[in-house]
Order: sequence, then C-alpha cells, then structure tokens
Amino acid sequence: MTTAPTDRRVALITGAAGELGRAICKRLCKDGLDIVAVDLNLEATEGLVQDLMLEPGQRALALRADLGDAASITTMVEQAGAAFGRIDVVVNNAAVNHRGSLYDFDPTQWDHMMAVNLRGPALLCQQVAPYWKKQRSGRVINMVSRCWVAGGPPAYVACKAGLVGLTRSMARELAPHNVTVNAIAPGLLPSAFTQEGRDLESFDAMVEGSIRNTPLKRLTTPADIANTTAFLASHDAAFITAEVIHVCGGSQLAPFGNG
Ligand SMILES: NC(=O)c1ccc[n+]([C@@H]2O[C@H](COP(=O)([O-])OP(=O)(O)OC[C@H]3O[C@@H](n4cnc5c(N)ncnc54)[C@H](O)[C@@H]3O)[C@@H](O)[C@H]2O)c1
Repeated sequence: MTTAPTDRRVALITGAAGELGRAICKRLCKDGLDIVAVDLNLEATEGLVQDLMLEPGQRALALRADLGDAASITTMVEQAGAAFGRIDVVVNNAAVNHRGSLYDFDPTQWDHMMAVNLRGPALLCQQVAPYWKKQRSGRVINMVSRCWVAGGPPAYVACKAGLVGLTRSMARELAPHNVTVNAIAPGLLPSAFTQEGRDLESFDAMVEGSIRNTPLKRLTTPADIANTTAFLASHDAAFITAEVIHVCGGSQLAPFGNG
C-alpha cells in the first residue's frame, strides 16, 4: 500500500479477524471506506485484508494490537495515522470472555476482561480524539451485547454495561467535535467467542434457547451487525448519538434463561 493521505474516510475496526469483525470490515470496504483492520491475531487479519475487494485508490491495512495493553494501542494508532493521515470511524468490536459466575470468577480474568473490553475502547478513543478534533467529525460504534439489559456472567455483563456508560459519556464529551458515539447490542451468533469452551450439545441447547427467547425467532447474523454498523458510520446517521441499537430480534425483552 502507498502512504499518501487521501480524502477517503478511514474506518478502524478492532477484533477485525473475528466473526463480526470480518463482516464489518467487508461491509465498510464495500461502502468505500479505507480499512484499518486491527486484531491480536495478525496472520488472520492479514488474510482478511487480502480478501477485501478494494476499488482503485482504496486502501486497507492489517495491524496487530492488544487492546488490553495501553502502549500497544498507542503504537497501533500511530501506525494507522502514519499510513492514512486520518481516522474517521472507530468500531470497538474486540472482546474477550472468560466465563464464570459470581461464585467462581477468577479476579485475574476479571481484570483482563475489563482491560480489553472496557478500558481498551476508552484508550483507543483517547488516542484517536486528536484526529476527530482536527477533522471536525468522527464516528464511534461500540459493540456491546443484549446481555447488558438481560444479565448473564457478571464480568462480561459489567464490561458491556460499562461500555454502554462509556458510549453515553463519550457522546457528550466528543459532541463539540461533531463525533457521534453509539452502541450495537447483538444477540447470540455462532463464533469462536460463543463456541469456545462449550461442547456441541451445550452450544446447540443454548442456540435453541436463544431462538425460543427471540420474538423474531432466529439468531443474529454477522450481516445484521455489519448493516447496522454501516448505517451508524454513514452520513444518514449524523444526528444519532448516545444510542444503543439492539440487533437481536427483540430478545432484549426476554429473560437471560437459556439464551
Ligand atoms: N458472538 C456473539 O454471540 C455476540 C453476542 C453479543 C455481542 N458480541 C460481541 O461482538 C464482538 C465480536 O464478537 P465475535 O463473536 O465476532 O467474536 P470472535 O471471537 O469471533 O472475535 C473476537 C476477535 O477479537 C480479537 N481479540 C481478542 N482479544 C483481543 C485483544 N486483547 N486485542 C485485540 N483483539 C483481540 C480476537 O482475536 C478475535 O479475532 C465482541 O465485542 C462480543 O462481545 C458477540
């Protein structure tokens, strides 16, 4: 890729190599944005970037960063800024989930989740804010979960509810620079995130329970989330901020139960 800055908007997506991250990168690429794909797994991210269908002049870059590490975030934003000269859209999508109930959660894992899932998005936005101030515009889209209202494993729910709070806080603080900050709350979809540590039988039972508890009677798809991200990143969403959009077929109405 070349390093000359252009006027094309730049989207930086974390957790880019995962199920939702890949769909979001592909959709924002299709919408004509330059893509900075960020993940802990550089090899998978480079593979994703190679698969993107770029139009002439459009650019994409794969970067490794650990969202749980402040120095790693700083280095990654410097690399993105050096390559593109601007950053318009930030999609805070990377997350980790060490499952555990209130009775058995591990404090070290709790801290790791808070660092990656909650502090990471805040530090990333802190680092990107000078670009938004200079550009007089920007978009932040934070990936939360329906569980922020429905409940579930305490550390995960606390991170996601905290990220909703951060969304509302940043919406106010960044508004003078014409930056909108919103959250998307997906329902269940199969990915490494939800399948890891579960056998097929318990995963299938969770899927069945989730569909049963979803008024629109299906799972969330990566396209559902990518479409909503694209809308929030678009000019059509310019006056929407501090909002949580539930993209889960109404399952935010249901108890946590099997879903
Ligand atoms: N899958 C679901 O059912 C579901 C439901 C609700 C919300 N979500 C949220 O959607 C987002 C994406 O989930 P997914 O299902 O695509 O998961 P995924 O496991 O497929 O992808 C997550 C990605 O994040 C990356 N990652 C993990 N730790 C990182 C770190 N420290 N630094 C940088 N990258 C890191 C992983 O390498 C992976 O590529 C998460 O925020 C998750 O909480 C998922």
